[in-house]
Amino acid sequence: MNEEMARYFTRPDLKAAKKRGKQEVSVLQFEHIPEEMRGIGDGKRYMIKTYGCQMNVHDSETIAGILELMGYEATDSEEEASVILLNTCAIRENAEDKVFGEIGRLKTLKTEKPELVLGMCGCMSQEEGVVNRILTKHQHVDLIFGTHNIHRLPHLLKEALMSKEMVVEVWSKEGDIVENLPKAREDGLKAWVNIMYGCDKFCTYCIVPYTRGKERSRRPEDVLAEIRDLARKGYQEVTLLGQNVNAYGKDFTDREYRFGDLMDDVRKIGIPRVRFTTSHPRDFDDHLIDVLAKKGNLVEHIHLPVQSGNDRILKIMARKHTREHYLELVRKIKEAIPDVVLTTDIIVGYPGETEEQFQDTLSLMREVEYDSAFTFIYSPREGTPAARMKDDVPMEVKKERLHRLNRLQEEISRRKNEALRGEVVEVLVEGESKKNPDILSGRTRTNKLVNFRGPKHLVGRFARVRIDEPRTWTLKGEWVEDSPMDQVGS
Ligand code: SAH
Ligand code: SF4
Ligand code: F3S
Repeated sequence: MNEEMARYFTRPDLKAAKKRGKQEVSVLQFEHIPEEMRGIGDGKRYMIKTYGCQMNVHDSETIAGILELMGYEATDSEEEASVILLNTCAIRENAEDKVFGEIGRLKTLKTEKPELVLGMCGCMSQEEGVVNRILTKHQHVDLIFGTHNIHRLPHLLKEALMSKEMVVEVWSKEGDIVENLPKAREDGLKAWVNIMYGCDKFCTYCIVPYTRGKERSRRPEDVLAEIRDLARKGYQEVTLLGQNVNAYGKDFTDREYRFGDLMDDVRKIGIPRVRFTTSHPRDFDDHLIDVLAKKGNLVEHIHLPVQSGNDRILKIMARKHTREHYLELVRKIKEAIPDVVLTTDIIVGYPGETEEQFQDTLSLMREVEYDSAFTFIYSPREGTPAARMKDDVPMEVKKERLHRLNRLQEEISRRKNEALRGEVVEVLVEGESKKNPDILSGRTRTNKLVNFRGPKHLVGRFARVRIDEPRTWTLKGEWVEDSPMDQVGS
């Protein structure tokens, strides 16, 4: 690494991340684009490829917002783009493989068009091994930045445009909060809103606490102002984002204000639908259940990852909840919100998982009756405690367990959807169906996809739809009547 590169490089360090202490969180304000960088992108195009979770998708909207302030415009064509950024995800090995495949493939384009800026950002950039691999094997990459310094993009891009060397700036730090970031939101109807960043749970399999820094909450006044602004702009739905939203406010030193309080305040804002993700079962308190039970714009859908139904596995995952604690929480939620839809995340084939332990996951799935589940085969992540655990479960066994789990979920999902036959549901109409332009599609409050025949003027509005053909993953229905806004949330 030469001197110039070293100037911009703080090596990402998992060990340091794990030892992080109680460093004060600063709330910074995004400055305007510096004078000399305004208009730098006039007449030029950018392309961002997004690989990760909702948080990652929303980061792409921030990056797009910054680029657009610099004059760049979005494009879907690689050939047209002057800047291509890969916003990466490190959660499982296949996510990383895809990105390395793409970096390799883009080498041809970069060779043909040397003025192209090819950059990588997101969670993979926070991994030391990944950065080293790019520095040694993929010299055609121009720019690497991480999850903590997105607001520095104008400076980094300028540097990349001027320098022949790779510009690498990754901060291995606990994390600050940057307010006032521009957002080029992809959708005019539904918006993502960060309420907190980072994660302090350190589940033994998970890379997120290292790539995203420590848990830190945005101040409620900033979150509420952003949601009010979205409501004014005509957004119909917001999804509040955090790796562990139930820990919201735990880090405030100047006030007692938690996720339940935030939801209670959001409930009073005139935005028709409010979702949130993701909930950790550990911090889900009774106050939050009481607030969610008030409904209104707070929808009756909770994504509540369980990961496993077996106590021994939950323990080595360091999930900090037991099967019993989880089932008790589910019981309380269902009692308070009888029509709640629960969804989850599950990992199969954890190091050492026995058939019997896996059976506990199947039985928990049967007991809770999720409407749907994201299911994964365990993927070792370098630097996490689980990566050092002995794993004697053969891949065929893991695959077979995943298959059995998915079959069971399918059966439950079909049954759950079948129960909606003949029911009239409220659908936020998002647009025409991808397969057939005569069909409109949208989502219920519980986030189920509904396809129905109806007039185009319903797009962007709420419609009442009678479900007449429930399927495993989607619902088909008939438009009943135009439902005016004042019925929403009733
Ligand atoms: N913060 C969220 C999860 C974010 S990651 C939460 O705690 O619920 C999304 C999902 O990816 C996790 O719930 C988990 O099921 C899965 N996952 C995370 N790390 C994984 C790994 N190493 N291998 C397989 N799946 C993993
Ligand atoms: Fe990962 Fe666990 Fe944090 Fe979720 S709660 S992001 S699974 S460490
Ligand atoms: Fe992936 Fe980072 Fe999200 S690892 S799942 S993009 S927080």
